[in-house]
Amino acid sequence: MTTLQTTNRCPVGIIGGTGLTKLNGLAIDGEREVETPWGDPSAPLVFGQLDGQEVVFLARHGDPHRIPPHQVNYRANLWALREAGVETVVGVNAVGGIHPEMGPAQVVVPDQLIDYTWGRACTYFEGELEATTHIDFTDPYTPAAREILIRKAGEAGVACSDFGVYAATQGPRLETAAEIRRLERDGCDLVGMTGMPEAVLAMELKMNYVCLALVVNWAAGKTDHIITMEEIEQAIDKGMSGVKRILADSVTDLGALGARV
Ligand code: HPA
Repeated sequence: MTTLQTTNRCPVGIIGGTGLTKLNGLAIDGEREVETPWGDPSAPLVFGQLDGQEVVFLARHGDPHRIPPHQVNYRANLWALREAGVETVVGVNAVGGIHPEMGPAQVVVPDQLIDYTWGRACTYFEGELEATTHIDFTDPYTPAAREILIRKAGEAGVACSDFGVYAATQGPRLETAAEIRRLERDGCDLVGMTGMPEAVLAMELKMNYVCLALVVNWAAGKTDHIITMEEIEQAIDKGMSGVKRILADSVTDLGALGARV
């Protein structure tokens, strides 16, 4: 692996979660260890070409997968991507399915989220500030980036739900059945542990952000059996090829989006 000395800049960043620690299909040019004012990112940034388009990849849980969701340094991760010139971030997330159409191996591009996490460093606005900033978070996922993923999934024939409210829970444990019933009453369709504060930090740094979720299990209480790692691995094996296809087909259009306005 080459350690890049150059300051490669790259408009599209992909953050891979559980089941996507390495992005095969990425023709790797090199990787770069990055330091940020917020500490170290989860892993070196990996630069390469996906379908001929420059992308930078970051393994959210480290490579190998070792950092639990509540201990990911989200601020360092997003900062490192922005320093690499990223304008649009695709967060790939493994999730549990709550909505009846969102069973294992289903791909989902959610349109909303509810944040149930706590105690995570969730903003860059802290310390001695000249002014307090309240960013508008009405649309946590950039609509134009969502539209690209959904359109490319359709063109490739990858089944993909084009709506969904993502519940971001603290983890690392899975939920109780009653917690999932509460999330359902709140209007949530999916549950995962890493969607926040990633989305809001991207927005604070003026990057577009979109979530590409892969359902890896029915959420707690939605089946009559307990959730096993085998079931999760099977769903990843079945669904991740669709996720990778959507990523490869979308990078050129995502790269053309430009910076968040
Ligand atoms: N709950 C929370 N996070 C998850 C799940 C789940 O069921 N599956 C994958 N990530």
